[in-house]
Amino acid sequence: MRWAEWVAEENALIDAAGRRRTIRDLDARGLTGTLDDGTAFVSFASNDYLGLNSHPAVVQAAHEALDRWGAGSGSARLIAGARPIHRALEQALAEWKAAESALLFPTGYAANLGVLSTFGGPGVTIFSDELNHASIVDGCRLARADVRTYRHADLDHLAAMLAGAGRSVVVTDAVFSMDGDEAPLTELAALCHEHSALLVVDEAHAVLGPHAELAPAEYLRVGTLSKFLGSSGGFVAGPREFTDLLVNRARSFIFTTASTPADAAAALAAVQVMRSPEGDALRTRLRALIDRVAPGHPSPILPVVLGEETRAMESAAALLDKGLLVPAIRPPSVPAGTSRLRVTLSAAHTDDQVTRLLGALRELGALTHA
Ligand SMILES: Cc1ncc(COP(=O)(O)O)c(C=O)c1O
Repeated sequence: MRWAEWVAEENALIDAAGRRRTIRDLDARGLTGTLDDGTAFVSFASNDYLGLNSHPAVVQAAHEALDRWGAGSGSARLIAGARPIHRALEQALAEWKAAESALLFPTGYAANLGVLSTFGGPGVTIFSDELNHASIVDGCRLARADVRTYRHADLDHLAAMLAGAGRSVVVTDAVFSMDGDEAPLTELAALCHEHSALLVVDEAHAVLGPHAELAPAEYLRVGTLSKFLGSSGGFVAGPREFTDLLVNRARSFIFTTASTPADAAAALAAVQVMRSPEGDALRTRLRALIDRVAPGHPSPILPVVLGEETRAMESAAALLDKGLLVPAIRPPSVPAGTSRLRVTLSAAHTDDQVTRLLGALRELGALTHA
């Protein structure tokens, strides 16, 4: 069979399941822009939770870095060295995470691959929450460890599995990317300490917390610059000896080009804004907007579970007709029967935009609690 025939068959299977995805071009800055037919939209799809993507200080820092160091980094850092901006950003990230050290990766995806393949060697068991992000799942696949999945946030299940397990890594999202709920980090850290397991926490969406004390467990924090820091890239924060080991063993660090100086400079400026009184105000605003849509919900990821795929797809299309970009999420990203709209809020949304969203969701019968 020619490859072209195989490809046609595979695509036909995707079509038959009604699941062919296509990429939409959106001409946008921040949360607003135009669709390819020229109609205006406001995005409730982005992970730019604090609106830092187009913050003047962030954009200016990227411009300055571009002027000073040029567009690309040239090669992997072990080959071509780092620019000073990479080091400055790592210091700022380590301080923010109260860690000894931080190491940049080109993406959060690469950071998860690097950590799990480095610490999940032969003879290790990795315990992974069943709802962890795909980059964790792929990191587990790359690791040569045994991988066992525990029921979502189920401490009893995990405790039973950890008993007698030997050298172990426990990995969890801090905020789960499809449901927006939080992991029980304090309890997970206690369990890890009890069983001498390394705890790996992916804080990609943890813009409002959880803020758990993880010590005395041994732990690493994984983060991304691509969501509420408005830039692009990922990182791991932890003890220096651990990040030194990553420099020497993590193939997704060693064999890939460093993030661009402009990305690093943008992220550094974003960390500075986020840790200033302005950052406090942005988080307060975000909290208030979340409470308008889903009072008390812990994160800006708001799932509106509708059940059938067609209902989720039709609802997303109806919202887009009103200029509201809200993604429909369906299998395989979420379990069958739990297709949903995934609303993400940002401090940069206006009150009026959120009012429009609420009205449109109510009209669709998709919102019962607000
Ligand atoms: C929980 C989680 N971890 C990691 C990633 C990957 O981060 P990045 O987009 O920087 O590769 C994402 C999102 O893409 C995520 O939702």
